[in-house]
Amino acid sequence: MNILLTGGMGYIGSHVAIVLLEAGHHVVLYDNLCNSDAGVLARIAKITGKEPIFMEADVRATSTLTETLKNHAIEAVIHFAGLKAVGESTQKPLAYYANNVEGTISLLESMSEVGIRTLVFSGSATVYGEPQYLPLDEAHPTSATNPYGRTKLYIEEMLRDISLSDPSWRIVSLRYFNPAGAHESGLIGEKPTGAPNNLMPYMAQVATGELKELSVFGNDYPTPDGTGVRDYIHVMDLAEGHAAALSWLAGHFGWHAINLGTGEGYSVLDMIAAFAKASGRDIPYRIAPRRKGDVAACYADPGKALRELGWQARRRLHVMCEDVWRFQRRLPRP
Ligand code: NAD
Ligand code: UD1
Repeated sequence: MNILLTGGMGYIGSHVAIVLLEAGHHVVLYDNLCNSDAGVLARIAKITGKEPIFMEADVRATSTLTETLKNHAIEAVIHFAGLKAVGESTQKPLAYYANNVEGTISLLESMSEVGIRTLVFSGSATVYGEPQYLPLDEAHPTSATNPYGRTKLYIEEMLRDISLSDPSWRIVSLRYFNPAGAHESGLIGEKPTGAPNNLMPYMAQVATGELKELSVFGNDYPTPDGTGVRDYIHVMDLAEGHAAALSWLAGHFGWHAINLGTGEGYSVLDMIAAFAKASGRDIPYRIAPRRKGDVAACYADPGKALRELGWQARRRLHVMCEDVWRFQRRLPRP
């Protein structure tokens, strides 16, 4: 199959590219490099022995996108391109609406023009807002507490509307829980620009000594050890979930939401212990106040993905930590 990955040079897209190339698909990465670098291409080629096609452009450049879809006889699209920092989205909401919402409208217009009707979208468990019950299944009510989350919610609504307007669309929103980990080669992984916001990359930099200590945001949550509980999913499991979703769409029309998570929750203290063990390093930490907007616990009911896609996460927490550590050690130190 000829598959275009918007945002394919980024953290999740590059891992998905590896899985698709290894399965024999032709892959075009379409990315404006606003949060990635061209060096990813060579690393993907080193891992897979195949060089994906790369097009440096913005998803909002509708005519360029349309030409790319035509020129490469694209049959399906996976849409990763977007901005994803929650804090930044509260400072620059318009940049988030422009990039994420406008970018998706541009993509849907291009796909409509060329006649491509198969789309996998990078959704997020952030659309569940404050959990009303756990584990979170796809029927849980949706809401958003920040501009980033609202872009994910609005995009899902658009996708649902477009599938109702034309029943030949096949669309799945994969609602990711907390992607973490790296490819086992240590060649690609999550490389945040600037200070990391998320737990795993922050811990990794504390382990190397680049950052002094981790602030644990709150130890008074109603969880077993008082710290926040999340469903961390290995990025290669997540990547395999995309391949499974694409195959599944061949037999399904309409818009569908499917969780990609493990179903298991780990606390911040569990994560510190697991990372310290995997790295053999101390992770100094101190208890800090809660972070605004954080929820106590968030983990998936991954049953629908298993029933529908025949997919479930296979990699355990220690593998996730070991893979992040391998990747982190290979990075040039600033
Ligand atoms: P990332 O920033 O590493 O990758 C996104 C890629 O999209 C980058 O390479 C960036 O350069 C590109 N991009 C951004 N705007 C673009 C535009 N207008 N035109 C072309 N390219 C553009 O992020 P990621 O972690 O790989 O996330 C991928 C997707 O998954 C995003 O939509 C994100 O919101 C979603 N998601 C991520 C997480 C997570 O924890 N990483 C969780 C839930 C959902
Ligand atoms: C965050 C986003 C979420 C987004 C997801 C992408 C917020 C409020 N939520 O989720 O919308 O979809 O990233 O992966 O930003 N923690 C610490 N110290 C740190 C960093 C994190 O204690 O330095 C704790 C957090 O309080 C939380 C857990 O670690 O309990 C995970 O945090 P993080 O990795 O930022 O992910 P989420 O907050 O779940």
